[in-house]
Amino acid sequence: MIYKKITKAILPVAGLGTRFLPATKAIPKEMLTVVDKPLIQYIVHEAAEAGITDIILVTHSSKNAIENHFDKHYELETELQLRGKEERLIPIQEITPEGVRIVSVRQPEALGLGHAILCAEPVIASDEPFAVLLPDVLMHHSKKGCLAQMVDFYEKVHTSVIALEAVPEDQVEKYGIAEINGADMRISSLVEKPKKEDAPSNLSVVGRYIFTPRLMQLLKVTKPGAGGEIQLTDAMDRLLDEEVMFGFEFKDGKSYDCGDKQGFLQANIEYALRDPKLGADFKEYLKSLDVDSI
Ligand code: UTP
Repeated sequence: MIYKKITKAILPVAGLGTRFLPATKAIPKEMLTVVDKPLIQYIVHEAAEAGITDIILVTHSSKNAIENHFDKHYELETELQLRGKEERLIPIQEITPEGVRIVSVRQPEALGLGHAILCAEPVIASDEPFAVLLPDVLMHHSKKGCLAQMVDFYEKVHTSVIALEAVPEDQVEKYGIAEINGADMRISSLVEKPKKEDAPSNLSVVGRYIFTPRLMQLLKVTKPGAGGEIQLTDAMDRLLDEEVMFGFEFKDGKSYDCGDKQGFLQANIEYALRDPKLGADFKEYLKSLDVDSI
């Protein structure tokens, strides 16, 4: 494959978010807030840090709030200016990172993650590699964003790179697990939710991907699998038969699965503790809690 820079990222946001009902009846799951920002905003900024200039939201008619969030709100900005509330204006103006364009395509029906990615095909050139970020997974980092590190790796290997994170061995049953071949992190297979004794490793697939253009072609011929949905993992299995795919182990940070209530609550607590303005007081409050009496 001829090397091409990664400039486009697909963010699938058309799912039903059923695990968060009733909260997600009228509000998209991706607009749920961690401290003071919706999940989707963290993801768009992670993509921008990695050099992505075009974000493709795969969305649904019920999810206009996501597009509105990234749109300019003239009345609100003018009103804040008139009232001299500059400190409240800045966070609004920083919602969309400089130099990033956000476009959207529709997924008319939630037919699976693989299908959602395929819906972005018209805006990705047939020879163009691309990134995929799952908007309900937050990747907190201490040095450099997960996708930015993956792009650095991709620029050396010029093939698909999948983010992996070590999970406790007794929890592999909850995740997609990668089998790694050798010290250079080549992936030899992907196993969905293996039993502890059958797991080829404890490295789970965590929702950040860089794919060669071949993935899109394979999605086109992927038949509906588990749950009648077009599964991304089925197309990835076929890609593994044809091309080298590397794992990138995300080590200097922590992921939060905010599609799940536990992960979402943990993210809120830990992001609040790290917040420069809220953190110190919030920590004191948490320490003062007698958790067993609540
Ligand atoms: P999830 O399976 O975590 O999201 O998909 P979901 O289906 O919305 O949530 P639950 O399980 O019902 O609670 C991961 C991401 O992929 C998107 C979702 O919006 C989510 O951000 N997705 C999923 C789509 O865009 N289309 C789909 O058909 C499925």
